[in-house]
Amino acid sequence: MHKADLIVGLQWGDEGKGKIVDMMAQDYEVVARFAGGHNAGHTIVTNGKKYALHLIPSGILNPDAVNIIGNGVVVCPANLMKEMSQFDNLEGRLWLSDKAHLILPYHQMIDQAKERMRGDKAIGTTGRGIGPAYADKISRSGHRVGELKDVETLFVKIVEYLNQNRPVFEAMGVDVPSENSLKEDLERYRDGLLPYITDTTQMIWRELREGRKILLEGAQGTMLDIDHGTYPYVTSSNTIAGGACTGMGLSPKQIGRVTGIAKAYCTRVGNGPFPSEDFGPDGDRLREQGHEFGTTTGRPRRCGWFDAVAIRHACALNGCDQISLMKLDVLDGFEKIKICVGYEFEGERIDYVPYDLEHVTPIYETFPGWEKVEGIDDYDALPDSAKAYIETIERVSGVKVGIISTSPDRNDTIVRP
Ligand code: GDP
Ligand code: IMO
Ligand code: MG
Repeated sequence: MHKADLIVGLQWGDEGKGKIVDMMAQDYEVVARFAGGHNAGHTIVTNGKKYALHLIPSGILNPDAVNIIGNGVVVCPANLMKEMSQFDNLEGRLWLSDKAHLILPYHQMIDQAKERMRGDKAIGTTGRGIGPAYADKISRSGHRVGELKDVETLFVKIVEYLNQNRPVFEAMGVDVPSENSLKEDLERYRDGLLPYITDTTQMIWRELREGRKILLEGAQGTMLDIDHGTYPYVTSSNTIAGGACTGMGLSPKQIGRVTGIAKAYCTRVGNGPFPSEDFGPDGDRLREQGHEFGTTTGRPRRCGWFDAVAIRHACALNGCDQISLMKLDVLDGFEKIKICVGYEFEGERIDYVPYDLEHVTPIYETFPGWEKVEGIDDYDALPDSAKAYIETIERVSGVKVGIISTSPDRNDTIVRP
């Protein structure tokens, strides 16, 4: 049986998934996104040119690959159309599931209003309406992409929904869109997206049956998963491997090789626990050397050391066959490098991720640094201290580091046999 290979983030997002999907997409015929929305920001650099993708799968730069936005994704039509305008000739190369849920303008306003109401307990969302759109989906009052085929009926349903919820919106300070602007927006979305809407479940089954090579592209990261992440400081979808089954309509038996993407250190945007965060000069240096500012919101990312406990947890949740270790070059020039190898929790040492990550203290091992790995594309050419660091990561996570990335460029990558 043919299977679809999978890429997932192992940390708190922004691990460098875009680079690896783009690189691997050269060998795949279909690339599919299965969860999240335009909260994601995937940066790809090829031949010195930089692309920022949010919703369109990172396989789009391979002119021969077909790209699918699956049913598990939440789609903001206005943003998707804007992103699509960067590319020519997308027809036949991009498909959008009729079962994906729509992010409508009021979802974004609700997201931002709720964050304001949370005050100092704000989650630090991207403010894109992701949570409210998924909330409507789960509470069975959402609207699906397929409804754009009959805008008249969709319009009536949305007006009814807005009228029912008007008192709540008013209490939250959310401006309900006028009926005229809503109608115009929906017609614009229909005109822009209709040629791309299809039953992507049937499509992916057909592609598998016909033996095409399929790559599933995760967004966000394992520690942001709605069930297994640092709740409530998470996103609103299942970002882990299991999400690829529900978000595409694949059975667990149809998932092939799983590659987990992890940075050689750790970052997080938004609020919530981050045990190995470094508040001192090393954290600042990681942010500077790693250009750790969000692709989607431009926010400075919180930075810290590689958390081996969280990675082991993530590898187990995703069934990782290999780790792709990103941004090793960002550690260039550090005299000492730390790895969090355990947590202290309620007076004891533990080596698992507990219910409440807020109250753990990291236990570190310190390793000697190296001068420079930037641009190296051959494992044997790495300094011994870098090899020792990678081998420690393999030992503590129990998973092979099959890919090592040493710059943003597609070519500066070590692929181990
Ligand atoms: P994603 O959300 O997981 O796709 O990751 P982002 O694109 O948000 O963030 C990763 C950033 O690191 C991007 O700006 C990439 O161009 C960059 N990047 C990826 N791999 C490497 C690497 O090995 N070294 C360096 N210096 N930058 C990298
Ligand atoms: P990629 O795919 C990093 C974070 C937000 C916030 C939390 C909830 O680029 O790795 P949301 O808007 O989803 O309700 O915000 O999740 N977040 C991400 N952090 N990378 C991402 O995506 C993220 N998508 C959401 O910062 O803390
Ligand atoms: Mg990102």
